[in-house]
Amino acid sequence: MIPTLEWTDQGVRFLDQTKLPMEEVYVNTTSYGEVATVIRDMIVRGAPAIGVSGAMGMALGIDRSNAINVAELSLEVNVMADALAKTRPTAVNLFWGIERIRSLYTRLVAEQSPHLSEADKLKTIKAAIVTEAKTMYDEDIAACKTMGQFGADLLPRKGTVLTHCNAGALATCGYGSALGVIRAAVERGFEIDVLADETRPFLQGARLTAWELMKDGIQTSVLCDNMSGSLMRQGRIQAVIVGADRIAANGDVANKIGTYTVAVLAREHGIPFYVAAPWSTIDINTPTGEEIPIEQRDPREVTHSNGKQMTPDGVGIENPAFDVTPAKYVTSIITERGLLKAPYGKSIAAMDAVGALQADAVHA
Ligand code: MRU
Repeated sequence: MIPTLEWTDQGVRFLDQTKLPMEEVYVNTTSYGEVATVIRDMIVRGAPAIGVSGAMGMALGIDRSNAINVAELSLEVNVMADALAKTRPTAVNLFWGIERIRSLYTRLVAEQSPHLSEADKLKTIKAAIVTEAKTMYDEDIAACKTMGQFGADLLPRKGTVLTHCNAGALATCGYGSALGVIRAAVERGFEIDVLADETRPFLQGARLTAWELMKDGIQTSVLCDNMSGSLMRQGRIQAVIVGADRIAANGDVANKIGTYTVAVLAREHGIPFYVAAPWSTIDINTPTGEEIPIEQRDPREVTHSNGKQMTPDGVGIENPAFDVTPAKYVTSIITERGLLKAPYGKSIAAMDAVGALQADAVHA
């Protein structure tokens, strides 16, 4: 399995995705601040992966804290959560990961017997928090595998599938969301060729999707971002599948910049457009895609390639990292709870209610 991120006795270890595919280098973090830097600098990236990284950053900060009592640790926990939440704004999984740890922390504090010493309370809380972060890691892999099982049959038995950005093992704790569906289909014997949009400017498709699919022996070709329309017109693409960074309550999908263009082209050519994402990507508190914050990144990502300037000095630059695809272009959303279909507002609300009932049953 690709070791995207991992809790170890030395800290949280990340495969440095800025160096792939030329170098496989690992970065070890020993503080929540270092985890925040790793997320901000996109050493780890992809919504589910940064969600679990946020949780692990919180767990690392809590576990390594020198606070001498719970009151002191509680103040630190809020500082950690703020620092991690400031790193990237679009993928809602990050906030989900941080809040899951913070709310467990609050519950654990309330549950501690007043008869315990402060040292014993801290020990109990720290152990439970680290266990929770590791559980979230395992749950992410399990969710990807389940999405694979739900989604595989949507793909052609034999054909070409286009994907944009990287929604693979590298964007999750393993297996992948969109690429997990492709992996599951290939495991069932489907003959699938993958087309990976290069995904300018960060090249997640050319560098990361191509690298991880080739490692698994899945037939993959890279194309420039402006090429898929022409291939669709020639009948050379049978399905499109992508991941998501945030899905609004009405089913609008924020994903890597360029996804919207692909979705509109797919509709024009009658090609199904699928989105695979774990439930932690669904943001029922954001009504539509209009309200999703879009990260604007450094203009240098556009002006330079491999350290070399490619544009004239002083030219204006646009670099939004994500776009929003309106729900009307999405054929189905594949989650670990099942397939969502239009009208998405209803479908999401119904499945959210089932999830809430199940969570209540677990805590009862
Ligand atoms: O900027 P990135 O590389 O973090 O963006 C990643 C994407 O847009 C992915 O498609 C998305 O997070 C889904 S990953 C399963």
